[in-house]
Parts: sequence; structure tokens; C-alpha cells
Amino acid sequence: MSERDKRASVCVVGLGYIGLPTAVVLAKATGNVAGYEIDSVKRQIISDARAPFVENGLDKALREVLESESLTVADTLPNASCYIVAVPTPIGKDKKVDLAYLKSAVEHVSAVLQGDELIVIESTCPPGTTQQVRSWVLETRPDLSSQLEGDAIQFAYCPERVLPGNILFEITENDRIVGGLTESAAKRAKSMYESFCHGTIHLTDAITAEITKLAENTFRDINIAFANELETISRYLGADAWEVISLANHHPRVNILKPGPGVGGHCIAVDPWFLAAASENPTPMIEAARSVNDGKPKEVVERVIEALDTEATASILVLGITFKENVDDVRESPAVTVVSMLSRELPCSDILVVDPMASELPESLGGAVNVQFSQEIPHSLQIFDAVVGLVAHDAFSALEVSVFGEAAVIDTRNMF
Ligand SMILES: NC(=O)c1ccc[n+]([C@@H]2O[C@H](COP(=O)([O-])OP(=O)(O)OC[C@H]3O[C@@H](n4cnc5c(N)ncnc54)[C@H](O)[C@@H]3O)[C@@H](O)[C@H]2O)c1
Repeated sequence: MSERDKRASVCVVGLGYIGLPTAVVLAKATGNVAGYEIDSVKRQIISDARAPFVENGLDKALREVLESESLTVADTLPNASCYIVAVPTPIGKDKKVDLAYLKSAVEHVSAVLQGDELIVIESTCPPGTTQQVRSWVLETRPDLSSQLEGDAIQFAYCPERVLPGNILFEITENDRIVGGLTESAAKRAKSMYESFCHGTIHLTDAITAEITKLAENTFRDINIAFANELETISRYLGADAWEVISLANHHPRVNILKPGPGVGGHCIAVDPWFLAAASENPTPMIEAARSVNDGKPKEVVERVIEALDTEATASILVLGITFKENVDDVRESPAVTVVSMLSRELPCSDILVVDPMASELPESLGGAVNVQFSQEIPHSLQIFDAVVGLVAHDAFSALEVSVFGEAAVIDTRNMF
């Protein structure tokens, strides 16, 4: 068997929330997948057949593909005929994308290329990034310029649109967009995704796929901003925004999303900035939606302070710290912002954060001495001056407003 025949069919680079489930379903479908993760602690956890984060069914599926050796976790980047890159693409404080992880991953991949590979980017990126990835490869491996010119080394962008908590199902069942730098790259990527994806695979060019991904999340951000604004208006007028939205959604062409304490996660709160930054013209609607959603935590804190009617010591129960229900992910979580602001604004208060999905408070709350954390719902719920519902985890679904006794209840998620 030649060296080329021995290589993995696919190597997934970055075994996080997206990369690990992708590697697992691909391994199950093709039997010959490698996963490469730069974080050695995470790599060890995965090699021990444990998922390093909470995701329905992932532990079991991971164990199966490791036991059958369909998936191998590599210590160094292995040779493969296709690389799927799923590394972080965060934004900085200036709201500009940080492509350092992606550039570094691509440079690592470039170093092991043999000249006939397909490189697929799954990380969410600003428009034009797939073309940029090709330039990085050429800069790192000028010796491969003829393979790049001749379309032997190929590039495609294939964004993810999975729902955290239901990733294993959605990764195989959702439709996918595959955008190639060339038509033949798109077709090659399609045949790889067809090995496990039952949804329709829509082929396009890379720039269209990049914009499409950002359009999806920006649409949701704008819709949620409207829901959040509607919540503020309805509350002021003494109406229940949740009922308003539910009734409005009976219109056959209306679908207003849910209001809440803000918008979090690494996607909806981030991707609109990639789209806005790509425009040479002003993008007032995208920015207004971001501003409405980013302003929501402050509004929640003002409601708590107003309800307490005192600056003195108060005991506050906060339910939920993750960015959405039934996940353990706290990235960009508006609940973290709410707790941080509460801690600052009410320094003499005791704040207890309860979240059965999270394992601890995020590092950013480490210095907040008046904030405690528990995974358990306290036995005695009538001792708090205020209860703030921020994340509608299933574990909170049995709680009714009456269990909180005299406490002021600020329910941002229609939980009780
Ligand atoms: N999580 C989601 O629901 C979701 C949905 C759609 C798109 N995305 C996008 O997918 C990308 C990945 O997101 P995620 O949530 O999986 O992030 P994550 O942080 O959970 O995982 C990324 C992994 O990549 C690893 N990594 C970083 N540099 C590496 C390198 N050079 N080589 C190997 N591994 C490396 C990190 O250690 C980390 O484990 C991001 O661009 C994100 O915006 C995420």
C-alpha cells in the first residue's frame, strides 16, 4: 500500500463543539477518520472516550468509533486526503474577527500537504476567508504552486448550522451549503459530506457560502432584537410579550423569535459583526440589532434593582448562566454579563447562581466575591429577596412562581 493509500480519508482539525461531532459521524460513516486537537488536555479526554463538553449522545457515539478504530485521535497532524478545519474564529473587543487560530491551523495543515488534498473550512468566517486560506497555503508551501494553480489542492467552505444540544441529529439531517473555490472542489466536498449527511447538499461558490452562513445568524439576531424590543414595549404597557408573540405567530407569514436577557453564544452574537465589517457602506440595521440585544442585560439588572427597592443587602438567586438552555457553553452568555453587572451594582448583596448544566462559574466572574455557584437547586427557595430567571434549562421546568414566596421574580425567559 502506498503512503497515499495509507492516509486517513479525512482529518478533522479542532475537536470542539463542531469538530468532534463531525469527526464522530464521519468516522461512523467512513471508518477511517483522524481527529487532531492542539489542546493536549482535551486530546487526552477525547482519547479516553469522554466528550469534553455536554452534548446529547456524544459520549456513547465517541466510545463506539474509538473502540472500532474508525476514529483515531492524533498527537501530530496526520496525512489525510481531506482536512476539515473547525477551529475558533472569535471577535476581539473591537468587534473585529481574530483569524489567528485559523491561520495557524492552516499553516500546520500546509506543512503536511502532499499535493492532492481537499481543505474544507467549517469555522465561521468573514467573506473572502476561503480565498485567504488558499493564499496562506501558497505562502507556506510555494513548492506546491503548480498543484494549487492546477486545482489539485482544492478548497471549499462548508458552514455549520447545527443546534447545540441536538448536534448529532442535526449534523446528519440538516441541509448543507457547500461552496467551492472551484466547481470541482465543491463537487469533491459534496461527495465527502454525502457519506453522512442525509439532508440536501446545495452547491455554490465559496463567497456565496460564506455570506449565506452570516446571513442566517444575522437574520436571527435581528429577529431576536425585535422580540426583545417588543418585550420592553409590552412590559411597559402591562402586557405579556410572550402571549403577544405567540398570538402574532398565528399569522401564517409571521415568525417572531423569543425574547430573553440578551443574545449569547459564539454564533448569533458574533457573526453579524463579520457581515457588517465586510460592507463598505453603513449597516445600520445589523448594528441596531446588536445594540438592542447587547443592551438587554443592563435592562434586566435595572429591573432587579428596581424590584428590590433598596440599595442595602439583598439575597439574589440567579437561575442559569449558560448562553442557552440545556447546554454547558458559557461563551458570550448574556447571563454572565447580568451576573457581573449585578455583582458590581449591588456589592453588598449575596448572589447565588444555580446552573445544573455548567460545571463552574466562568473565569470572568472569578473576582466577584459576592457571587457563589451551585449546580443544585436549593431546597429552601423562599429565602431570596429576588429570583432572576435567565436560562430555561429543563431542570428548572418544574419550578412555579409560587415556590419563591415573597421574592421579586424577574423572569426573562417565561420560565415560571
Ligand atoms: N458551536 C457551534 O454551535 C457552532 C455552530 C456553527 C459554527 N461554529 C463555528 O465553528 C468554529 C468552531 O467552533 P466550536 O464551537 O467548535 O469551537 P471550540 O472552541 O469548541 O473548538 C475549537 C477547537 O479547536 C482547537 N484548536 C485551535 N487551534 C487549533 C489548531 N491549530 N489545531 C488543532 N486544534 C486547534 C481548540 O483547542 C478547540 O478545541 C467557530 O468558527 C465557530 O464560530 C460553531
